[in-house]
Amino acid sequence: MILFKKAQSLTEYLQKLKSQNVSVGFVPTMGALHNGHISLIKKAKKECDIVVCSVFVNPVQFNNKTDFEKYPVTIEQDILLLEENKTDILFLPSVKEIYPNGTDKLQHFDLDYLENILEGFYRPGHFQGVCNVVHRLLSIVEPNKIFFGQKDYQQTLVAKKIIHQFHQQTEMIVEATLREKDGLAMSSRNMRLSNDARKKATAIFKALQYIRQNIATKNFEELKKEATEIILKNGFDKIDYIEICDAENLEAVNHFTKQKKLIALIAAYIEDVRLIDNLLI
Ligand code: PAJ
Repeated sequence: MILFKKAQSLTEYLQKLKSQNVSVGFVPTMGALHNGHISLIKKAKKECDIVVCSVFVNPVQFNNKTDFEKYPVTIEQDILLLEENKTDILFLPSVKEIYPNGTDKLQHFDLDYLENILEGFYRPGHFQGVCNVVHRLLSIVEPNKIFFGQKDYQQTLVAKKIIHQFHQQTEMIVEATLREKDGLAMSSRNMRLSNDARKKATAIFKALQYIRQNIATKNFEELKKEATEIILKNGFDKIDYIEICDAENLEAVNHFTKQKKLIALIAAYIEDVRLIDNLLI
């Protein structure tokens, strides 16, 4: 695996390869890698000649300072895992490299209502931060394909907008969420949970499954109330949202319909760790 820390060197290196018709797959991450990330690397490896992974804890997408400070950094382990999985290139930039003009004046992206619902509502500024880094990374790597996880569903819709507007030469691929045996979605934030909370955290997936099983027969308000009970009874401290939406655009849906592909989404806190998950219905 080749390690690049400088944007310009990486761009030049990749341009040479692309001129020889080598296809480039790109997996952007914030590190603290787990098998969910690795599933994206494996998919990229299957679909492209070479795979670039970036590890960059993007400061401007954290609306909460503590969350940023406590974000796990496990770079030595990440490098081993990436090498084991035959990643060709690791891009490990500094903040200065990604934001040469500083982080105060960011570019503004028009995300319409997506900016203010669900994750956007509870994490103001988060998606502007995501867009800035994704746009910058795509300008540096210019991949043939970029790989995202369904785990961050709203992020995939936001990224789709950026790619459509600025990076039409890149195809976006979304991979299913990889889960632990008990159903908990793999996440870098799971590392921050105690053993006890780790066991209880599976309640989010249980609540999502409960919604899926009962979607056609129960009223949505009742369903959401019961899902709330499942989560709070299992030791979660706070729920940001439990929503059932149109999977196309994340508009809220209030009653069951076969005409739309639906998705249930949850964000909740256990031991001050905020976990999110979703399930297509
Ligand atoms: P991060 O949370 O590190 O996730 C990197 C990618 O891995 C994202 O596309 C995410 O959806 C995917 N992923 C995370 N957990 C997964 C799981 N259990 N199964 C499958 N895929 C999973 O998302 C980000 O970083 C950042 O916002 C980023 C896009 C890198 C911009 O900073």
